Amino acid sequence: MGPEDLDQILKDLPLKKDPKVLVGLETSDDAGVYQLTDEIALIQTADFFTPIVDDPYTFGQIAVANALSDVYAMGGRPLTALNLVAFPIKTLSLSVLKEILRGGLSKMEEAGVALVGGHTIEDPEVKYGLAVTGVVHPNEILTNAKANPGDQLVLTKPLGTGIIATALKGGIASEEAVAKMVESMVALNRKASEWMRAFGAHACTDITGFSFIGHTLEMAIASRVGMIIHSEKIPLLPEAMEYARLGLIPGGAHSNREFFSCRVDTDPHVPGLRIDLLYDPQTSGGLLISLPRGDAEKLVEKLKKEENIDASIVGEVVEEPPGKIRIL
Ligand code: CO
Ligand code: CO
Ligand code: CO
Repeated sequence: MGPEDLDQILKDLPLKKDPKVLVGLETSDDAGVYQLTDEIALIQTADFFTPIVDDPYTFGQIAVANALSDVYAMGGRPLTALNLVAFPIKTLSLSVLKEILRGGLSKMEEAGVALVGGHTIEDPEVKYGLAVTGVVHPNEILTNAKANPGDQLVLTKPLGTGIIATALKGGIASEEAVAKMVESMVALNRKASEWMRAFGAHACTDITGFSFIGHTLEMAIASRVGMIIHSEKIPLLPEAMEYARLGLIPGGAHSNREFFSCRVDTDPHVPGLRIDLLYDPQTSGGLLISLPRGDAEKLVEKLKKEENIDASIVGEVVEEPPGKIRIL
C-alpha cells in the first residue's frame, strides 16, 4: 500500500465538516489543528516505528525527535505527550524497554514537553513513538499549502538516513557515518521552527518517510505551485553517496520513486545516485521551509551561525507547472 492508496481510504471516510477543525485530513499536512479560542489552537499528531539503530536509548531519542517534528513543522509548540509502545514482553528484557523510554524522556525534557501517560501492547516487534499535543496561535499556523511563487526553499537537515540505516543493517556502514546519521536524527527541529516563524515563513513540512521528493511534492500540490530543485545544493550525510553506489537503497526509496516520479521532471545532467538520495525515506528529517527570497538567506545564516544547523537554500517556488517538481 502506498501513500496514494492510503490517501484514498482517508478521503473515503464519511467525515463531517467541523468549522473548529482548522487543518484536517484533506491536505496531507503534518498534524491536525483544532481551534479552542481566538488565541489558541490545539495541534495533534502521532508517530511510531520500529528501531532503526541497535542502541535502545538512542532509538528512544530518535522516535521522540521524529514525533515532535510534526508540531514544529506547523510552527507550534509541543506541550504534552503520550508514549505509544509495542514490545515483545516474553522474549526481550524489560531493561531494553526502560532504555527506550529513558532515551525518549531525555528528548521530551530537552523540548520542554511533559510526558503525561501512554499505552503499551505486546507485539513480536518493538515499536515506539508518541502521540503529541501542542499549541499554536490560530493566525500563525504554518501548513504546506501557502508556498508562494518567488519563495525560496530551505532544508534544515542532510538527506541519507534510509541509505545509511540500510548499510548499517548490512554491516557495512562506518562508525563515522552512523554517528553523523544519529546526530542528525536525534536533533530536534525546534530551533529551526522558532526561527522560520521569526523570518516570516509561508509554508513548511518535515521530510520523513515519503522522502525529500514526496514531501516537497505534497507542498507543491497543496500550494498549487511548481518547484525547481537544485540537486547539487542539497546536503547529504557523509558516505550516503558511497552506499547508494553499492546499491544499499531501502525498499521505501523504490516505492517513493514509483509513486512520485510521474510528477517529477529531471534534467538529464543530474547524476542518478543523487536522484536515489532524493527518494530516500528519511527518519526524523529536517524541515522544508518556503519563505521570501531575502528572508531565506537570513534564515540560513541565522541557523548556521547561531544554532549550528546545517541549513541550505535548495530550490525555489515557481508558478508553473502546478503540482510538479523540476530537478536541475
Ligand atoms: Co511530517
Ligand atoms: Co508524522
Ligand atoms: Co491504555
